[in-house]
Amino acid sequence: MSAGVPEKRFVIAIDGPAASGKSSTAQWVARRLAFHHVDSGALYRAATAVQLDAHTDPERWAEDEILAATGRIGFVPDNGAFVPLIDGVSADEVLRGVEVTRNVSRVARMPRVRAWVNAQVRRASESHSVVVDGRDIGTVVFPNADLKVFLIADPWERARRRLVQRLGRSPSDAEIAEETDLIVHRDAKDATQTVQASDAVLIDTTYLTQEDQVERIVALAKAVTHRADETSAG
Ligand code: DC
Repeated sequence: MSAGVPEKRFVIAIDGPAASGKSSTAQWVARRLAFHHVDSGALYRAATAVQLDAHTDPERWAEDEILAATGRIGFVPDNGAFVPLIDGVSADEVLRGVEVTRNVSRVARMPRVRAWVNAQVRRASESHSVVVDGRDIGTVVFPNADLKVFLIADPWERARRRLVQRLGRSPSDAEIAEETDLIVHRDAKDATQTVQASDAVLIDTTYLTQEDQVERIVALAKAVTHRADETSAG
């Protein structure tokens, strides 16, 4: 790259419903391409976690209050990913916890919280090539993303995968049925935000392994980055 010519930064958007494997797939794809992974859902979770510290009734949470609390959240590059810090400390376990998961949808429906998350994510993309996963990345946050992927999978299979990850063993049919109900319920709560861009590549992962999904997206991404290299070479 010659001096003074800004390096092209790529944005890959991976959207889809809960437990469609977006985050782990995005993480692997980012690693393969030496891009940074940005999990936008983690920012909604961080906003929820700081608000939970106020110990007030979630039914009465006000957007202003939550926005003020987001002042405690940093979003920094660390080892190939942007991670939310709360008061300067990683809070991954809290972010994945039951309380945050139960309340995050209501926070994610607040327009100014969405604007705050989108600003954090866009700022990350100014300094790094990124693979961003979420619900509205290809439609709202990066409508001009270099590549957009929308991942879907059968709810039963999403439930099964989530339980295997959580329990570290094969779940029973009864356990899967219970988790499927939760996932379908979450799909309904997040439905307005979860939008497939008209130019997104739709990948149904129900019968794909994680490796297959990653390979497909990496192949699509390489085609896009090579095309960009050829265009800039003239
Ligand atoms: O992907 P996740 O489960 O970590 O997402 C947490 C919540 O944030 C979930 O309610 C969906 C919402 N979300 C969103 O509305 N838009 C995004 N870009 C990412 C997540």
